[in-house]
Amino acid sequence: MSVMRTQVAIIGAGPAGLLLGQLLHRAGIDAVILEQRTPEYVLGRIRAGVLEQGTVDVMELAGVSSRLHAESLTHGGVEIAANDVRRRIAFQDLIGRTVTVYGQTEMTRDLMDARQASGATTIYEAADVALHDIDHDHPRVTWRKDGVTHSLDCDFIAGCDGFHGISRASVPERALTLFDRHYPFGWLGILVEKPPVSEELIYAHHERGFALCSMRSLTRSRYYVQVPEGEKVDNWSDARFWDELRARINPEAAARLQTGPSIEKSIAPLRSFVAEPLRFGSLFLAGDAAHIVPPTGAKGLNLAISDVAMLGAALAEFYGERSKAGLDAYSKKALARIWKAERFSWWMTSLLHTFPETGAFGRRIQRADFDYLCGSIAAQTSLAENYTGLSLD
Ligand code: FAD
Ligand code: PHB
Repeated sequence: MSVMRTQVAIIGAGPAGLLLGQLLHRAGIDAVILEQRTPEYVLGRIRAGVLEQGTVDVMELAGVSSRLHAESLTHGGVEIAANDVRRRIAFQDLIGRTVTVYGQTEMTRDLMDARQASGATTIYEAADVALHDIDHDHPRVTWRKDGVTHSLDCDFIAGCDGFHGISRASVPERALTLFDRHYPFGWLGILVEKPPVSEELIYAHHERGFALCSMRSLTRSRYYVQVPEGEKVDNWSDARFWDELRARINPEAAARLQTGPSIEKSIAPLRSFVAEPLRFGSLFLAGDAAHIVPPTGAKGLNLAISDVAMLGAALAEFYGERSKAGLDAYSKKALARIWKAERFSWWMTSLLHTFPETGAFGRRIQRADFDYLCGSIAAQTSLAENYTGLSLD
């Protein structure tokens, strides 16, 4: 068995783990990242596309924002549509804020490049990662690679290994309280090498189900349609997808839609989930390992980044000033933001999706909620504050 030592062991090389690694590196703190997949697999997962200003600020702080600034798009609003009514929520006019459109894949690539340039250790294809002694001051992580068992001694473990990771599962059941909401549908997403249908994102409610028109650049578009839970990608030819999308968006947008062969197509289930607290002994949970939001509010990646910004600062305070105050406050501080984002994501999901079990009363309430949004500057301002992240801090 080979034995190594580091200050912080980071489990998972998604955006949360990679960014934490970069923040710690810049603070002069040694960290090793363990990832069960290959870099190509991590980059092949098409996920988020919308960044809050706070997320961009953290990327700047971490010294990984040059390509983001050169290639991203800045949006001053989104369109929300339902029942043949369309309303632009103009964040820039309402509250002077914008969001940044830049794919999670690109952000992950920038972080991987920075990590490689820093010379810090990332171990990909680490199998059977296991956490030991997390209730002690000196925990340990073991894994297998190429038939050899390795062990890493450390001061702290950051569990950044997503919803299905090992970190949260290593905490004794009695020490965690779980909050879970399941939605009876998923999102079928398609990526296509065609210009987007509109300059800004369109969130559309339709009786056939929700649809979202998003983008990655001026030449690459990302579209989603709500599908029943358990639906299989194989049932969806590109032609079927485009027909369904056209049926759910407004006729002008449908007429402008440029279709083409999909370069990626996948289904993501929707759920709301929080595990409390985010700390157990020397293990700290961050990102999807601790919480999930349905993607309707574009909050998951942004929350993962705000978690690790807080955790990175707390670890820097510990090593720099030998103060545990930041680490002790981490869970409570991060959870305050997480629950605000949970509420907003749940509300956006409830407003815009078709719920199979909802009767006539529920449908009228949903319509009244949408009419209220369209008629109320206060409601539009609230949406703008939440969507851009202003009211989450
Ligand atoms: P992950 O990205 O899941 O990374 C965890 C990593 O840990 C993975 O690389 C995994 O392979 C690794 N791992 C898992 N188990 C182990 C183990 N046992 N050992 C070692 N490594 C392990 N968010 C937004 O903010 N805006 C959006 O617009 C948005 N859109 C989305 C659209 C879709 C369709 C989906 C599915 C999600 C979307 N999200 C969005 C959410 C966002 O993608 C996630 O919240 C984000 O990926 C969380 O990052 P993470 O690093 O915490 O976890
Ligand atoms: C995306 O572009 O993938 C995207 C955008 C906004 C969302 C969710 C996903 O709310």
